[in-house]
Amino acid sequence: MNKIHAAITAVNGYVPDYVLTNHELETMVDTNDEWITTRTGIKERRILKGEGLGTSDMAVPAVNGLLKKRGIGADEIDLIIFCTSTPDRVFPATANILADKIGAKNAWGYDLQATCSGFLFGLATGSQFIESGKHKKVLVVGGDKMSSMIDYKDRATCIIFGDGCGAVLLEPNDEGNGIIDSVLKSDGAGLPFLHQKAGGSARPTSHETIDAREHYLYQEGQSVFKFAVTNMAEVAAEVMERNNLTANDIAWLVPHQANKRIIDATASRTGVSSDKVIINIERYGNTTNGTLPLCLWEWEDKFKKGDNLIIAAFGGGFTWGSIYLKWAY
Ligand SMILES: CC(C)(COP(=O)(O)OP(=O)(O)OC[C@H]1O[C@@H](n2cnc3c(N)ncnc32)[C@H](O)[C@@H]1OP(=O)(O)O)[C@@H](O)C(=O)NCCC(=O)NCCS
Repeated sequence: MNKIHAAITAVNGYVPDYVLTNHELETMVDTNDEWITTRTGIKERRILKGEGLGTSDMAVPAVNGLLKKRGIGADEIDLIIFCTSTPDRVFPATANILADKIGAKNAWGYDLQATCSGFLFGLATGSQFIESGKHKKVLVVGGDKMSSMIDYKDRATCIIFGDGCGAVLLEPNDEGNGIIDSVLKSDGAGLPFLHQKAGGSARPTSHETIDAREHYLYQEGQSVFKFAVTNMAEVAAEVMERNNLTANDIAWLVPHQANKRIIDATASRTGVSSDKVIINIERYGNTTNGTLPLCLWEWEDKFKKGDNLIIAAFGGGFTWGSIYLKWAY
């Protein structure tokens, strides 16, 4: 019997309607379109507006659209892994909230927190339940409402992030397609460079933490940049080398969308030509857990069965990794 791989069998995405352009940001902080474009590649990002709306509210249309495309009901899902750094609430898990909203009555689920590498880690984790034979349909959702933790007075961070959500369905494949290999890494020494200072158990919310603006994302951009530019490229190259893949074998490189210069460095290190590198950062910015599924969603029509994809990500923590998969449809 052939080995069972976990294959992506459907993908869908959702981005909110509101477009926050570089020009609008110019009216909010001391910045300009030229600086943002040359330093990051970003032109605009989407923002989820509306009282009481959270990350799950972007996941609902993404997942409902996915189920429709695949022609299955929500009750057929076995497991939901919700990869997010901006859960609706600290608890319960957003996976549970989503399951309730879409009617996934037979699914269990949990949230996965690995910042911008979350969706990649979710794919790797979800695939284990398929390969082991435990489950037949695993939903991996990646989404963030980054605007909920961004300080729109901090020009170094508010230009980068946006809101969005995507989802994929993993199912067993015995034709040799699906997730073939992964390299996954993390290093807690990265904490000082990218974190949220308060709101967790170590520093619970108080008047003092709010007055000190400690609930916003804190980033030391240059340190994160240096780390990311080397490590995302290295890990993508590593997964290629150990599977005897050269740039010519790769149909698509799918990098986390944090900064166009980091994406270019990864493409250069792997040797993959620019026409095979998926980039939508100019329209969405960094949607954290949303970037990779949104890329897969927007390029789905171009993928062919058997295409070799290299997915790579890095994020706060630090976390980073790469997956080699063969597209299954
Ligand atoms: C954040 C980032 C875009 C900043 O770009 P950079 O080239 O490193 O810029 P620096 O932080 O060195 O700042 C250079 C100057 O631009 C200024 N600046 C910062 N943000 C600015 C903005 N939005 N508009 C104009 N000037 C800005 C800085 O104050 C600094 O001014 P100074 O030289 O007078 O002190 C870049 O570091 C980056 O992309 N880092 C990685 C971020 C990332 O990937 N995070 C997500 C992890 S998943």
